[in-house]
Amino acid sequence: MEEAGSYNKIVIDHLKHPRNNGEMENPDGVGEAQNPVCGDTMRLFIRVEMDRIVDAKFLTFGCGAAIASSSITTEMIKGRAIEEVLMISDQAIAEALGGLPPAKIHCSVLAERAIQAAVSDYQKRRNNR
Ligand code: FES
Repeated sequence: MEEAGSYNKIVIDHLKHPRNNGEMENPDGVGEAQNPVCGDTMRLFIRVEMDRIVDAKFLTFGCGAAIASSSITTEMIKGRAIEEVLMISDQAIAEALGGLPPAKIHCSVLAERAIQAAVSDYQKRRNNR
């Protein structure tokens, strides 16, 4: 694993004990995001009831900051309404992690994009019902 020394305690905690890690069976929406520079990818699964996210899981192949961002993102979106989660920015994710090292700031963008993609997949599926 990479230099964990540059990460703060919150990031290391999420890195060592990722929350909601794994695949979800029959999700209501799936979003995937890839960082074109490093190739890291995140897949986010959401379960939605009455336009509120009731469960979320993730699969991320990437750096420590990307995994920690994914993990905290699942916690940030659970229980929140769809229109609220669409407002979550990469900065908000990095802030919730207590900050990321300057070279790793972009890694939280992956999580923001995965949220947008999962919600848009959910909306597409709902409209096709
Ligand atoms: S280095 Fe690729 S997402 Fe962090």
